[in-house]
Amino acid sequence: MDKKALAEIYHEETKYHEARMGKFQRPLDWGAQPSPYKEYHSDKKIDLIPYLPFQNNPFTGEPLPPAKTQGGYPFGIAEISRLLYFTNGVTGILQYPTGQTLTLRAAPTAGGLYPTELYVAIRGLSVLENGIYNFQVKDHSLVLVWEGDFWEEFERYCMHHEAIAKSNLLVIMTAVYQRSAWRYQERAYRRILLDTGHILGNLVVYAPEEGFSPVPIGGFLDTSLNRLLFLDEAEEGVLAVVALPQGEKINPEEIRPTSAVASMPIPKGENDLKMLQLQLHRVSSILPGEKVDLSAVRRPPDLNVLESKHSYKEATLLPESPIDWGESVGQSILLRRSTRGFSGEGFLKEELAGILGYAYFPVAAVPSPFFDPSILQTYLVVQKVVGLQEGIYYFVPQKNELRLLSAGDFREQTWHFCLGQELARDAAALVIHIAHLKRAVEKYGDRAYRYLHLDAGQIGERLNLAAIRLGLGVSGIGGFYDDEVNALLGLSLDEIVVYITTLGRPRSS
Ligand SMILES: Cc1cc2nc3c(=O)[nH]c(=O)nc-3n(C[C@H](O)[C@H](O)[C@H](O)COP(=O)(O)O)c2cc1C
Repeated sequence: MDKKALAEIYHEETKYHEARMGKFQRPLDWGAQPSPYKEYHSDKKIDLIPYLPFQNNPFTGEPLPPAKTQGGYPFGIAEISRLLYFTNGVTGILQYPTGQTLTLRAAPTAGGLYPTELYVAIRGLSVLENGIYNFQVKDHSLVLVWEGDFWEEFERYCMHHEAIAKSNLLVIMTAVYQRSAWRYQERAYRRILLDTGHILGNLVVYAPEEGFSPVPIGGFLDTSLNRLLFLDEAEEGVLAVVALPQGEKINPEEIRPTSAVASMPIPKGENDLKMLQLQLHRVSSILPGEKVDLSAVRRPPDLNVLESKHSYKEATLLPESPIDWGESVGQSILLRRSTRGFSGEGFLKEELAGILGYAYFPVAAVPSPFFDPSILQTYLVVQKVVGLQEGIYYFVPQKNELRLLSAGDFREQTWHFCLGQELARDAAALVIHIAHLKRAVEKYGDRAYRYLHLDAGQIGERLNLAAIRLGLGVSGIGGFYDDEVNALLGLSLDEIVVYITTLGRPRSS
């Protein structure tokens, strides 16, 4: 028998099985829930609210004076304020009858747990000190946590990725594991990566409106970056770095793919790490001095792999249906909420085509904002889409083509494998991301697990925004009986289910 990678072991261990849900269903200890905010005590705090382009303060509802438009070279605080707001700022406040409030953010998050933190590195701005800042979501501010120009370190730790040198602004995404693990235990890591992928999705779609060309970087020296940010690695770790060079300065052809390979044996003494998910994160880390073969990742992803699957099945070419985003994609980010119930009605094939076309457009783009679009595959369960037969389809993103695998009504099965959630039964369609994990691990080592989930999250966010723009409903689903999904889609044992997004008509409340 061949030896399994830790990513495979972790995935197997964290599958939900109907008969074995007990181990994931311990009662929640509400007193032990970690705060979704990180505290930094610093006397250098920059209030970003006055720069927001709104009439009312999103936290208090009080009228705001006209947004400050103070300039700056090469850009100002206003650009940073809007960029962070539309990436992961507070876009909604829920008031419970008990008087408690829940703040909702620009990107969705499993269980409302918000494990992702954003840090911003800045250099050479006329209006802000060089340094590393933490984005404080709870009052839309920046706190300066380390003063100085750290570009030399970022370049080294991101293995001399070209986009770092061309940027004056970096966004670093980390996760505080326990915020999600508190509830989801070992399965948290999957959702943490998906959540962070959603945030990455917002940044990638919004940044061009502020004149930036976002370049997500997945290959970096983990421990070095974690230390630069003074993170306690047992609690928090960097998941992605996004370089934000400005507009035309960047030549897409010069930017190489952003993923790098990592797989190391579990170091002795690390077996006592609290959780398997932390071991997986550690094992998929790149350490200083480790030989990283960048030539392997310089090759563009081979999308033929996606095209050759199910190629003999009956194909439907989806019509080109570009989405009109109006003034700004930011409007859809502001409106985005996860739909809490679908009506069960259908929508049009053209609407599905518009959503998929937008979500997957960057698959073949150069450079692609995805870490590796060739290792993630997409299936759809169409439950009610006017102009399409009900059934299970395989989707070829670069051709916008659906291949019918099995016709029929599978609502009973989708409802059941999504843990009995009505969202799945009443959705017009489910988009299901899967991957051949063994092959992905052959390419990137255990680090493939990160790329797969971050990319699925990023595509999930694009699906969200497109659906919202069309007035439809959408919600991610991170909890499912894995093997039941495999069985319905006819997947092999080496294929894993990464993420599910439900689309439909929202139920009127
Ligand atoms: C990775 C992920 C998994 C999710 N899983 C579910 C789910 O299984 N069921 C559900 O009703 N909502 C799910 N959601 C939606 C969250 O509950 C929702 O994002 C959160 O409550 C915040 O609300 P908002 O999206 O409206 O801002 C998921 C969201 C994400 C990003």
